[in-house]
Amino acid sequence: MVNAMISTLFLVVVHFGGAAVEGYGRADFPADFVFGSGTAAYQYEGAAFEDGRTPSFWDTFAHSGGTEGANGDVACDGYHKYKEDVKLMSEMGLEAFRFSISWSRLIPAGRGPLNPKGLQYYNNLINQLINNGIEPHVTLYHIDLPQILEDEYGGWLSTKVVDDFRAYAEVCFREFGDRVRHWTTVNEANIFTMGGYVQGTSPPGRCSSCSKGNSSTEPYVVGHNILLAHSAAARLYKEKYKAAQKGYVGFNIYVLWPVPYTDSREDIAAAQRVKDFLIGWMIDPLVLGDYPEVVKKNVGARLPAFSADEVERVKGSSDFIGLNHYYTILAKDNPSILSLQGGLLTDMAADMIYVQGDAPPDQYPTTPSGLYHTLEYMKQAYGNPPVYIHENGQKTRRNGTLLDTPRVEYLRAFISSVLDALRNGSNTKGYFEWTFLDCFELLDGYNSSFGLYYVDLDDKDLKRYPKFSAHWYSHFINTGNTLLFQK
Ligand code: NOJ
Repeated sequence: MVNAMISTLFLVVVHFGGAAVEGYGRADFPADFVFGSGTAAYQYEGAAFEDGRTPSFWDTFAHSGGTEGANGDVACDGYHKYKEDVKLMSEMGLEAFRFSISWSRLIPAGRGPLNPKGLQYYNNLINQLINNGIEPHVTLYHIDLPQILEDEYGGWLSTKVVDDFRAYAEVCFREFGDRVRHWTTVNEANIFTMGGYVQGTSPPGRCSSCSKGNSSTEPYVVGHNILLAHSAAARLYKEKYKAAQKGYVGFNIYVLWPVPYTDSREDIAAAQRVKDFLIGWMIDPLVLGDYPEVVKKNVGARLPAFSADEVERVKGSSDFIGLNHYYTILAKDNPSILSLQGGLLTDMAADMIYVQGDAPPDQYPTTPSGLYHTLEYMKQAYGNPPVYIHENGQKTRRNGTLLDTPRVEYLRAFISSVLDALRNGSNTKGYFEWTFLDCFELLDGYNSSFGLYYVDLDDKDLKRYPKFSAHWYSHFINTGNTLLFQK
């Protein structure tokens, strides 16, 4: 996902390397801080046509060639191999596992009757995790709206999605909430909206120059409906389930940390605009009750307004903020683009072009200071809410090597920046490496890899092999130091 955004927004990547804390260990983090790893349903489960599951719009997008001809029909076959995978997690000493539920596996018609086989799969997975001492952190929506709802009323473009999402969330709270305490409603709400409705590079593949879509209006409508759907589910949880289940409902966004290209007033303002569009667009309404001023000003009448009643429901509806962060960018004021405002500036990507450059295609730069500053920003701009780092990890080519030294260097540096932020008062509660296994990737199919485990796609059993990073992460969690890999 990130790549498509990068190419459109012409980002410059900066190499702010170097871990700040040397020789830190698990014991330096609070005991109730969790270290985990994650996957998402369409990327992990496979069994796309089995036991009553119906397609999501991610299936449709992949099958129409959206992801380099690849799809998640089989993926890592987690639907059949979850026991084996939980055993690997347990052997590693993983404390928590973040996964998502496939809405169309649980409720094949999008609303109405439950699929008993789907219910059984998620009950089994959750029980398996808990029996192995691994805490389940569950995402309800990870880019996979049931296709049937997309066909019926345009999915996230319609306010009808709010009731359907609330009803789906209620099924999950009711059926699994006795064992699940951490719920995230929507993964990467901001980037899902940009990829799916501005650029058309991810499901449902809509944009002005695509076969359908309107990049200048739809993302704002979708973003608004996502916030309403999230708050409907979160409010329901508070009113009906929280007292008994004692859990938390949060929201997730993707964050690039923008650093001003120069110390000029213009570039400093440009960096703040990136934060306002990328972070504030979603988090300001949740914490402060409205969109940021600069978003309202630049987007004008295309931005839906919150009614007083909606403000009431949305503000304060997130128990925690989930962040997916991978690297830092430069923000550069771009007067030629800005001067187009009011006339030709018609889509959201253009609204955000205050950054220029390009990103390396195969591997992310190791810029841990960006995570530190992101966590500081959450503290200062939003009153230090509880935060989970839901995704952070290194992308490499999927070339079969198990010696993934760049991933180890990356994790070691970024986890140390989390420790720095905690020592400076951040309310961060957990860190989830992305991802546990090399599975189906959002933009690259099976060409890139984020996993701690390599999955051999040429083996009919899809055998898993631990990489150096799996050993390193396990060593860090269990023995409490990072000395296995010391520069
Ligand atoms: C974003 C998404 O949440 C996830 O689905 C994707 O695989 C990773 N980040 C890496 O691109």
